[in-house]
Formats: sequence, C-alpha cells, structure tokens
Amino acid sequence: MTDYTLAHYQEACDAIEKLAQARPKIGLILGSGLGDLAELMVDAVRIPYDQIPHFPRSGAPSHAGILHVGTLFGQPAVIMQGRVHMYEGYDPQQVTFPVRVMKMLGIESLLITNAAGGINEAYVVGDLMVIDDHIDLAGMTGLDPTRGGHVPEMGPRFTPLNQAYHRDYIQKVQQLAVARGLTLHKGVYSFLVGPSFESPAEIRMLRQMGVDAVGMSTVPEVIVARNAGIKVLAISAITNVAIDDPDAEAITTEEEVWENVKQIIPRLKALVEDFMTDFKD
Ligand code: HPA
Repeated sequence: MTDYTLAHYQEACDAIEKLAQARPKIGLILGSGLGDLAELMVDAVRIPYDQIPHFPRSGAPSHAGILHVGTLFGQPAVIMQGRVHMYEGYDPQQVTFPVRVMKMLGIESLLITNAAGGINEAYVVGDLMVIDDHIDLAGMTGLDPTRGGHVPEMGPRFTPLNQAYHRDYIQKVQQLAVARGLTLHKGVYSFLVGPSFESPAEIRMLRQMGVDAVGMSTVPEVIVARNAGIKVLAISAITNVAIDDPDAEAITTEEEVWENVKQIIPRLKALVEDFMTDFKD
C-alpha cells in the first residue's frame, strides 16, 4: 500500500499548474476507447503522465496516459486520457492519486466512463448504464482506497457512500438521454480487481446480490472523489453480456470488449457532450 502525504499531491499539482494556468471545474476520466474526446478540447495544455511527479503510468491498451487541461464543450476541464487499473498491479491509493490531484487543481465534479459486462438480463451489448450505486467487493476485502495514513486536507477519515453518485447528475443525464432518444439504464455496478473475467458462478452470485453490470475500474476513484466532496457522474458502456452458464459455448474476450466499445462510443460521446454543454455545477 502506498501512503501518500499532502506533499506528494502538492508536488504533482504544482508541476501541472506550472504548465497549465487554467483552473478546471470538471474532471473527466475516460475509459476504454473514449480517450479521443480529449482531441476536442480547446486551449489545451497536454501533459504526459510521466512528467507529473508520482502520477501512475498507464499501461493498458488504448489508455494513452496524457493529462489535458483546457476547455471542453465550453467548460474549464481536466481530462485524464488513460487511467491505471488495479489489475495492472497498482494499489488503490496509486489508482486514485490523480483524483486528489484534480481536486487540488480545483475540480468540483467528476465524470467517469467505463466498459462493463452486463449482468442484468434485460441488458444487451451496446446499452449504456448510468451508475446509481455500487458494490465494492475489493473494498470489502481491505482494498478501500482511503485506507492507510489519513490526509485530513483531502477529506474525512470515514466516507459516506450514499449519494456517491450525485443524484441531480443522474437525473440530468437521464433527461438528456430521453431527449436524444438513447436507451440509458440506471443500475448497480460492481467492481472486481480482475484481470480475469468473472466465472459463471460469480456472475450468478453478483446477479443475486443485485448487481446490474460488472467491471474493473471506477469504484476506487468514486470513493476518493466522494471523500473529497467531488460530485460524480459515472456511465458504463455494456460491451458484453456476462456469461452465467459454465456450458455456454461463447467466452468473454478482450477483443469482444474492444470491438463492441467502438459501436457504443458515438452515443456515449453524445451524452458527454450534452452533459458538458448544459453543465451548471
Ligand atoms: N467483466 C469485467 N470487466 C469488464 C467486463 C466484464 O464482463 N466487460 C468489460 N469490462
């Protein structure tokens, strides 16, 4: 476990502020395939993660590892193009380090996207789901990102996790989806570290627990954001239907996930654009 102090966050923040003067209001952590939204940012200062002290390096495919500070759809924003995952070997404190740095930069809101396997039997590949709540199986086994040395400047010792997903943002994005004629489910996301996909028995267990979609990211960042008083909107792209039958012929593969992400991206981008354009606070 990495025990960061305030000085670590401050050093990263100072390095960014030296290069980029803008003060972002919204942070975006863009998951698989959505990174090119960053190209739409104007007046952007683009900083590779390896130029930011203590920032984790992104190693996953299609996760570029560039921080963009500028204006996106009219809003002062900071975009993480590429995130790191616990399945790469990072601990939850490293995965969430950038969230606290973005808080220091000034963000009050955080928009997160991810790819997820659909567990709810009503979901099909290509659907979108706004996250309403989560089940943090990793956190329950001791991998809570706020565990360890407490940095009081960053947030309280104990984090309330009701309303971790900002209720007004959920409502807003649901309205935007209706206006666009897009299907947007609202559901419970479960975080598992991975990188193995879930076994069929695990999928059936998750379904019984009330989980609608499962993935390998997002929840650590949401917990740290909530701890820091940041308002979160998180949207999952359902890239595959989780397999719940050990006799099924189909198997879940990374290729399937990437292939299906591509067809979802235009709709997810449209929702992000609408949300940003209409953003108040
Ligand atoms: N399980 C876990 N993570 C995922 C999946 C899945 O089925 N699809 C995309 N990310």
